[in-house]
Amino acid sequence: MRVKEAVLAELLAHREQSLSGEELASALSVSRSAVWKAISRLRSEGYAIEAGPNRGYRLTGGDVLSREAVRSYLHSPCDVHVYGSVGSTNTLLKAWAEDGCQEGTVAIAEEQTGGRGRRGRSFFSPRGTGLYMSVLLRPQQRAEAALQITTCAAVAVAEAIEALSGREAQIKWVNDVFLDGKKVCGILTEASLDVETGSLRYAILGIGINVLPPTEGYPEDLQDVAGSVFSRCELSDLRSRLAAAVLDRFFACYHELGSEECFEAYKRRLLVLGKRVTVLSGGCAVAEAEVLALNRDYSLLVRYEDGLCANLSTGEVSVHP
Ligand code: BTN
Repeated sequence: MRVKEAVLAELLAHREQSLSGEELASALSVSRSAVWKAISRLRSEGYAIEAGPNRGYRLTGGDVLSREAVRSYLHSPCDVHVYGSVGSTNTLLKAWAEDGCQEGTVAIAEEQTGGRGRRGRSFFSPRGTGLYMSVLLRPQQRAEAALQITTCAAVAVAEAIEALSGREAQIKWVNDVFLDGKKVCGILTEASLDVETGSLRYAILGIGINVLPPTEGYPEDLQDVAGSVFSRCELSDLRSRLAAAVLDRFFACYHELGSEECFEAYKRRLLVLGKRVTVLSGGCAVAEAEVLALNRDYSLLVRYEDGLCANLSTGEVSVHP
């Protein structure tokens, strides 16, 4: 670990107290001037570090998104990498998966210049206010399990958001997380299949959360539909805490994919149950229906206007207001 990262890890581990340059230098076995340089670099990167005569250094807040900060809140054995700017964390992780990286490798970015959403759409990923995270998975499962990775992730995101914000999250089938009628999170799971065995070679779980309102606002087409989890940074390291909370909750239920507990947690938050919806295919409305139930395989039982019932296992629905 470089001195800068080591200093940051120490400051994060002792958030409530000040650490003198001497204490930091001796804890890290480096010179005081190396500590001073590291502090200057951290400040220039935007970290709020207070210092005063005889008071030492103290991290005073701010939304620190870094490997060290995520790791300081994380309990799962993930290998976390944090970047300033990438095209898409899913694309990055796909390349790592092909190179043989292991399950639990996580890529997080401050910003994505080519964030990707479902059905070929783009995902708005401005700098500094969102959490853009991808997780490499190597499930010993058949291809059908990919859907349950997504539903399990939706539950993990909803629970993590509720724990940190105190707000009640809902899930729009299949995998969008909503707060007060606005989408705050989208999930894109991409899988590579072993065609001969029908099993998954790997899956990349991509999660995009609007944590704070974007500095320059949402683009016009998102203004009515997108929302953010927090209206301002009420808690230090918001995005790092959220990343760790999502990962911990996800890995807790990932090892029991298909569990009753996860199904119930999903169903409880499902906002389409009992509602009238428009069934979409390729983004276009194809029929009106009423959602009767969520089946155990996460497909939706719907009744069309002509009275016919069907199970929807792929596609999208939009909910009538
Ligand atoms: C959607 O709402 O259509 C899904 C959006 C998924 C966005 C996330 S952000 C992290 C990861 N990298 C991407 O390019 N996409 C996913």
